Amino acid sequence: MRKILILLGSLFLITACQYEVIKVEVIPPPDPTVELSFATDIAPIFTANNNCTACHAPGKTSPDLTTANAYQSLINGDFVVPNNPEASLIYTYPNPNASTHSWKHYTTYQAELLLTWINQGAQNN
Ligand code: HEC
Repeated sequence: MRKILILLGSLFLITACQYEVIKVEVIPPPDPTVELSFATDIAPIFTANNNCTACHAPGKTSPDLTTANAYQSLINGDFVVPNNPEASLIYTYPNPNASTHSWKHYTTYQAELLLTWINQGAQNN
């Protein structure tokens, strides 16, 4: 019995000493020379897991960020100024570095996608 306990104990020690190599995935920022698409790169930021559309949907808080309406509500409501990210509330307001909009902030990568898309002319592509 003692031997078994010692054996189990040392097994525990051996496994306790193992460590896992945690892979931290570093996502490089988007390449500004590669054209982003509103439909495939930007709109999903708003809709995936109801990230933004939980609150920004028809009959709820403006801007309406549902796929069918997002582009028009951003342009019509002046939430985006093409080629001017600093003047675009859709970029600045939920920015990870902003103190505004405590409801939800973009991830750094999402903010970079928005920045790049606006700098590329904020096209409905
Ligand atoms: C939990 C609810 C909620 C979620 C989720 C949410 N928002 Fe908001 N958002 C609000 C509310 C409420 C306001 C208006 C009050 C304010 O200005 O903070 C607002 C305001 C805004 C504004 C400024 C509107 C204006 O008229 O000035 C923008 C832009 C915006 N949200 C974008 C987003 C984006 C992009 C996301 C997803 C990353 C998002 N929101 C997720 C609740 C939410």
